[in-house]
Formats: sequence, C-alpha cells, structure tokens
Amino acid sequence: MSELVVVDTSNRITTIRMNRPEKKNAISLAMYQAMTAALSAAAADSQVRVVVLAGSDSCFSSGNDVTDFIKAGSGGSGLDAPLHFLRALATLDKPVVAAVHGMAIGIGTTMLLHCDFIYAANSARFKTPFVDLALVPEAASSLILPSLVGHRRAAQLLQLGEEIDAATALHWGMITAVDDAPEALARATAEKLASRAPTALQGTKALSHRHDRAAILETIEVEGAQFLARLKSPEAMEAFSAFMARRAPDFSKF
Ligand code: COA
Repeated sequence: MSELVVVDTSNRITTIRMNRPEKKNAISLAMYQAMTAALSAAAADSQVRVVVLAGSDSCFSSGNDVTDFIKAGSGGSGLDAPLHFLRALATLDKPVVAAVHGMAIGIGTTMLLHCDFIYAANSARFKTPFVDLALVPEAASSLILPSLVGHRRAAQLLQLGEEIDAATALHWGMITAVDDAPEALARATAEKLASRAPTALQGTKALSHRHDRAAILETIEVEGAQFLARLKSPEAMEAFSAFMARRAPDFSKF
C-alpha cells in the first residue's frame, strides 16, 4: 500500500501531501499523526523555511474519516489526533502554502484557515457540513470564518453547509488565487518565501498572530469538547447511519 501521507523536504521546503485518493483523501488517525509529525519536524528544523500542503489532482480532502467519527462517538480514541494536528498547524510560525484541487470538505476547508497562501484550481469546492452531520465547527472555524468572511457568509458555510466554488472563495477572501496549476503557483510562492530572511519571515508571521493565537487555541479546545459531545449524540448517530446507507438523515424526531 502506498503511503497515506507523503512528506518530502527539499530546497528548504517541506511538502505534506495527503495521498488516499480512493477515499477522496479522507483523513484517518494515522494520517493526522503523520501530518503532525511532519509539521513538528518542519518547525524544529532550521533548514526548513516553508511548508506546502497538498492533496491529489482530483481532491484536496473529504475531511475527517467518517468511520473514525463513528468510532470516536462510541468511545474510541476521541479527537486526540485531529486536535494535535490542529495545534501544530495553528502554532507554526513558518509560512504554510496550500494547493487545492477538487473537494475540500470539513477539516479539508478549515485547515486552510490556518494557511498563509492558498492556490485553488477551478475544480476546487469548499464545504463545512458540520451541522449536516449533527456536529459543530472545529479548527477554530467558528472564530476565524466570521471574522474572515463576515457573519452572513459564515452562516451559509457553517449553519447551512453550503458548498462554494473557487471563484466565490476568492471573492470572499478565503483563498489567494484561482489557477488551474495551483501546485506550480504554490511551489513558486514557497520558493520565494524560502529565499527570504528566515528570522524576519517567521517573526512576521508570529507578529501577525500576536493578538489572535491564544484565542484560536482556546477556541480549538472549546469546539473540540463540544464536537466530542455531539459525536456521541443520537443526532450524530442518525447522521452517520444515513451517511453509511447513502440516504438523507432524518432529524425530525429530535
Ligand atoms: N470518510 C470516510 N470515507 C469517505 C469520506 C470520508 N470523509 N469521503 C469519502 N469517503 C469514501 C466513500 O465512502 C467511498 O468509499 P467506498 O468506495 O468504499 O464506497 C469513497 O471514499 C469514494 O467516495 P464517493 O462518495 O463514492 O465519491 P464521490 O465523488 O461520489 O463523492 C465526496 C465525494 C467527497 C463529495 C463524498 O464522498 C462525501 O460527501 N464525503 C463525505 C464528506 C464529509 O461529510 N466529510 C466530513 C466533514 S465534517
């Protein structure tokens, strides 16, 4: 079996690629662990100046593996792995550049809120269907999205779970540019960043988050606790059964 996360470091750039295309890059616990380890290694290695996050040619990520949600809801290992990943991403002072093709769902979208440059193909679609799964937002998206796109648009994304295309995401300020070669653009930006004075670059990112980092980390924890409680709820059981049976959920009885 090929690696589910492919990590490569060259020319002062660490590239972290989700590589589970047959499951639309649904992120399993092992994948979170691999991505967290790669972020921690990038943070610790003074030779690494930039991180690039990527998925496959047809899909960025369909979000958390729903089968792991079901296990976590019935007493599995909880949300430790995604929370470690989110903390590592939210506290990295080195720039993160993302390249997105196709679907970015759930954490596939919310991880992008912690990236500095996001290049998306015209095929890119962004969606945060937490309420559709009887869940609440994660990755501090309940804090970051309203301040980034405004409350009205955040409600479209977080409450209705509406899907938006790349042009809309650009218009709303969620991404940097739309281009059908997002990886080439991401690499070009990463190379530019890697050539910059590293301490000044990392200091600039750290200063940019001086006022919001503590709030982001606190929100990740608060959301995580509510998310775990929702995962164990009858509403979520109905949502997951519906997902597995490929039918629409029925929340009328709650
Ligand atoms: N977790 C687990 N498995 C997933 C998954 C996820 N998040 N997303 C996709 N898969 C699996 C499907 O179950 C399917 O598995 P199978 O081939 O064994 O049946 C396979 O990946 C391909 O997905 P499929 O639904 O057939 O592809 P599609 O092109 O018709 O649709 C998506 C792609 C991403 C739109 C759709 O799979 C989807 O909506 N996934 C769920 C997204 C989601 O709700 N994520 C959680 C957000 S909080």
